[in-house]
Amino acid sequence: MAVNKRKFDVVIVGAGGSGLRCALQLARAGHDVAVLSKVFPTRSHTVAAQGGISASLGNMSEDHWYWHMFDTVKGSDYLGDQDAIEFMCREAPSAVYELEHMGMPFDRNPDGTIYQRPFGGHTANLGEKPVQRACAAADRTGHALLHTLYQQNVAARTHFFVEWMALDLIRDADGDVLGVVAMEMESGEVTILEAKATVLATGGAGRIFAASTNAYINTGDGLGMAARAGIALQDMEFWQFHPTGVAGAGVLITEGVRGEGGILLNANGERFMERYAPTYKDLAPRDFVSRSMDQEIKEGRGAGPNKDYVLLKLDHLGAETIHKRLPSIAEIALKFANVDCTKEPIPVVPTIHYQMGGVPANLHSQVLTVGADGSERIVGGLYAIGECSCVSVHGANRLGTNSLLDLVVFGRAAGNHIGSSDLLKHSHKPLPTDAADASLARLARLDASTSGESIQHVANDIRASMQKHCGVFRTSELLREGVGAIGEIAQRAQNIHLKDKSKVFNTARVEALEVENLIETAKATIVSAEARQESRGAHSHRDHPERDDVNWLKHTLWFSEGNRLSYRAVQMKPLSVDTFKPKARTF
Ligand code: FUM
Repeated sequence: MAVNKRKFDVVIVGAGGSGLRCALQLARAGHDVAVLSKVFPTRSHTVAAQGGISASLGNMSEDHWYWHMFDTVKGSDYLGDQDAIEFMCREAPSAVYELEHMGMPFDRNPDGTIYQRPFGGHTANLGEKPVQRACAAADRTGHALLHTLYQQNVAARTHFFVEWMALDLIRDADGDVLGVVAMEMESGEVTILEAKATVLATGGAGRIFAASTNAYINTGDGLGMAARAGIALQDMEFWQFHPTGVAGAGVLITEGVRGEGGILLNANGERFMERYAPTYKDLAPRDFVSRSMDQEIKEGRGAGPNKDYVLLKLDHLGAETIHKRLPSIAEIALKFANVDCTKEPIPVVPTIHYQMGGVPANLHSQVLTVGADGSERIVGGLYAIGECSCVSVHGANRLGTNSLLDLVVFGRAAGNHIGSSDLLKHSHKPLPTDAADASLARLARLDASTSGESIQHVANDIRASMQKHCGVFRTSELLREGVGAIGEIAQRAQNIHLKDKSKVFNTARVEALEVENLIETAKATIVSAEARQESRGAHSHRDHPERDDVNWLKHTLWFSEGNRLSYRAVQMKPLSVDTFKPKARTF
């Protein structure tokens, strides 16, 4: 197959919030930037973020970045790297004001300042009382952010490759990354996009689970590319269940509903969160609320004919507030649950929402790798930002609205670091002669196989298995079984074939390539989870119910080659303040 070649200063894989923020920083500085995306940029999954972006602006009452940092460290169950968390929380106000100045249509207070709403785990004065820190554009904050950044990129002349899928990273003999091999989805043509710096901004992989708030495009493409290139994936056992996905549909109902005063009820009409989290109640962090809901359902207090969901009541907020602050929620409730939420509660269940793990990166977003001897080094020319990265600012559990913040803070940081690095001062390194061979071999195998597994069966089996073995509550037995089941599915995934090739549209080819990324992500998740014998943040282990800081206050690294694990230390030392030492996490 003929392979085309294009050269850019920087290639960014993914056009969500982090990719666009990074691209903007570089394009505005005059660099030649290409952004690849499987979908039109404004359809990236950032568009689905609803409730807000966190920053200690203090528009509603006193707030401080240091309090935001405390909440984030505590929310992370102390697994977050405290230098990166300090950096993110300090940068938050300027990152949000920058968006405001680009024209992002935030909701306003009567005095013209940005409206901020309460969210889970956001507190004033180191946990003393709730604080309103989530800067909101109604319940469409991600939508507003994505459109703002896209328009700015068009003005800055960023090159967009729309409906292109990146297949593999190109690494040379020194281990440096020199760009990506990519496929134009419509034609199937393969192109090498050479770059002095390559940025993974591919988002999360929530589609490894059956019930997910994630878009269908979230198949862990960046994770698969990194894993195949020999780069470890970090902390993949930590997956966040959002407490309020529409039962049976998975669509997100923003935590902003509870921020505005909505409450969770069991089948008896009891506000059960008062029992589990007497101080924060419905606004405890997500891992806590999800476990409480699961417990209510398991103990027979779920609502509905099968007693398998709880109820989110918001009618008491009044139709006017609902239509002003939560217009999309009213629409989602009607379309996906057939409920008029100004009159009736919405049936909700904990639903997979966010991966805390990803490609390990430092606070400049440079990707790290670890040698067999445990020594760490930076992968030359490679950056990772947004949900596909693990900086790690979210540790074992992310606070709501820190995700949009992560995108813009680290997107900007990566852009600044690349722009001021030596990488862009030199010409492109020579490509290895076999730069595209691995990708071409993957495509050839798909085209050559005349029989084998169906793409959909394999993808569905991955999802069903992850849902069963790696849910809100985990056990040693379930996890052990899961390692075996995912291992078997991984074998089958190598035998996928495209039915009746004369009629194959390239979307089938794309789905088959996505399954290869899903399976890398699923293996990383289940193997890392099976090994971690404690409960921390979103990893809740029935057989090891306590957090174990002596043995497990460390990041997991999973390597695709050999399906093996190693560990690295958590950065407990912040940049300028004292360490927040691990404490019992109560709400
Ligand atoms: O609930 C939400 O609006 C989601 C926000 C987030 O995941 O940060």
